[in-house]
Amino acid sequence: MRITAKKIIEHKNQGKKITALTAYDYSSAKYFDKAGVDIILVGDSLAQVALGYSSTTQVTLDEMLIFTQAVARGAKNALVVADMPFMSYQISIEEAVKNAGKFIQAGAQAVKIEGSNTHILEAIKHLTQNGIPVMGHLGFTPQYINTIGGHFVSAKDSQKTFEILNMAQSLERAGVFSIVLEMVPQESSKFITQRLNVPTIGIGAGKYCDGQILVSDDILGKYDEFCPKFARQYSSLKDIIFNVARAYCNDVENGNFPSIAESFTLDTNEAQKLENYSQD
Ligand code: KIV
Repeated sequence: MRITAKKIIEHKNQGKKITALTAYDYSSAKYFDKAGVDIILVGDSLAQVALGYSSTTQVTLDEMLIFTQAVARGAKNALVVADMPFMSYQISIEEAVKNAGKFIQAGAQAVKIEGSNTHILEAIKHLTQNGIPVMGHLGFTPQYINTIGGHFVSAKDSQKTFEILNMAQSLERAGVFSIVLEMVPQESSKFITQRLNVPTIGIGAGKYCDGQILVSDDILGKYDEFCPKFARQYSSLKDIIFNVARAYCNDVENGNFPSIAESFTLDTNEAQKLENYSQD
């Protein structure tokens, strides 16, 4: 049965850790879902890992919608959350609702929005009132990279931790069902997590969050241009992909592919006719 946003909050109350991973295609979503991942995020990190852009600010709404449709077809049980891309919710409340609605129609069950300024709080209220569950995102917020100026750890002292807690509590009051905390010291995320009713999902935020999320290309070892300190690499898919492509090229070049078993054949009589014809 499909995990709902409400169920994710229940996990926190029951002390059950929430598992989340990003996915961008049908097959990955299918196997993450089978493995029992609670939340599959169609993250705008696909800008870098699937589309080769240099920043998440470059991915468009239309691109995000295609990936969301693919993931939604693969995930039968997990809660599918779609990341609303840069400038798809900032311009007006009306645009935020209209664009979030497109993600729900594409098959997601919730959307994620970065930040907590007054416009964003208002947008979250409208989305939730219109039946669209929202996941918040605080700490390092990649869509603000051009104003932040780099990949920095947030909440690095007690004052900044209080500020993030205040933001998180505003998001909670606006109606989010969970909050991603990105690149936050573990003592700070523990302090914040203990003071919220909705679960925190950490990425580079230590073990005290209610759940964890990672970019799937990082845990699979597929994207090699940047691997953050907080990502645990369980495989080296990039080496597997390289070795498979190399072995295939060798087989083709040496005439070892395709074999007879990998080919279609005529029956002997018909083959003989072609042989005779060639000899005429
Ligand atoms: O886009 C993404 O993958 C994300 C995660 C890092 C939480 O927002």
